Amino acid sequence: MYIIYGITFLVFYGLGMKIFSADWSKAENLPLLPRTNTSVVIGKYEKGYVYHNFRKFAHMIVAGTTGYGKTNFIKCLISQLDGEIVLIDLKGGFDYKKVTALDIEQSRIELEKVVSKMRQRRQGHIYVIVDEAGELLAPAHLTKKESADYLACQSCISEIARLGRGFHVHLIYATQYPTKDILNGQIKQNAETRVCFRLPTEIASRVALDESGAEELPTGDFGLGIYKKDYKINMKAFEFVERDGWDAKVRNPQRKGSADTFKIK
Ligand SMILES: Nc1ncnc2c1ncn2[C@@H]1O[C@H](COP(=O)(O)OP(=O)(O)OP(=O)(O)O)[C@@H](O)[C@H]1O
Ligand SMILES: [Mg+2]
Repeated sequence: MYIIYGITFLVFYGLGMKIFSADWSKAENLPLLPRTNTSVVIGKYEKGYVYHNFRKFAHMIVAGTTGYGKTNFIKCLISQLDGEIVLIDLKGGFDYKKVTALDIEQSRIELEKVVSKMRQRRQGHIYVIVDEAGELLAPAHLTKKESADYLACQSCISEIARLGRGFHVHLIYATQYPTKDILNGQIKQNAETRVCFRLPTEIASRVALDESGAEELPTGDFGLGIYKKDYKINMKAFEFVERDGWDAKVRNPQRKGSADTFKIK
């Protein structure tokens, strides 16, 4: 008798869990989202939407194997953030309509501007976004002189990570190669929020998340990731759907109530 009860329970529990878990990862169109101050909605989990407030958790590391959704995720962030966006894309610049810096010299100029502005009294938030942080490491064959721009960029990034919180300057640092030189101790200590899509190895997961798990995310499910700060949850990031020139004004996107939408798959 108890065995039958047990089996019935397991079948219903299993079905229930399946329906429940299928629910949060199925396709859905979200309503139009207004630009808010520092809060963004970044995805869905089994109990609802996942929000992130940059005022509370200033910096964010985004990690994941190529093609698993980092750039898409960043576009979703940019379209909601209210403030100055400094977008550094050292991967060719084809992913975004407009970027602030495409090469290492320009990155240095822009990052140094942010650092000098950081301590000034000013209104508003600045979001420094690096899409592919690995590109800020100097290639091995360069001489010390040739590496100067890379080193300058890294020192600006460290300074923003260390001091940015107090000055409303935020770092969003994305990489497909979570290694100890790219995500060094200082950046990791200061960027307590991690968004981690699938990674190839447990070692990579330990660097990006400080624990294993990202290597066990299913293959081929783009945008499915782990969001970790003071707690940790599995989430599905929104798919970015382009509307009317969402990032046309990267440097000063003060477009309240912009008409970008997101789709969850
Ligand atoms: N949240 C998502 N939901 C559904 N599909 C997604 C999602 N995120 C990404 N994708 C799909 O995966 C593709 C690749 O995503 P994306 O360019 O963001 O990857 P990436 O991590 O930036 O890769 P790379 O490291 O090569 O730059 C997208 O064009 C989209 O088709
Ligand atoms: Mg990308």
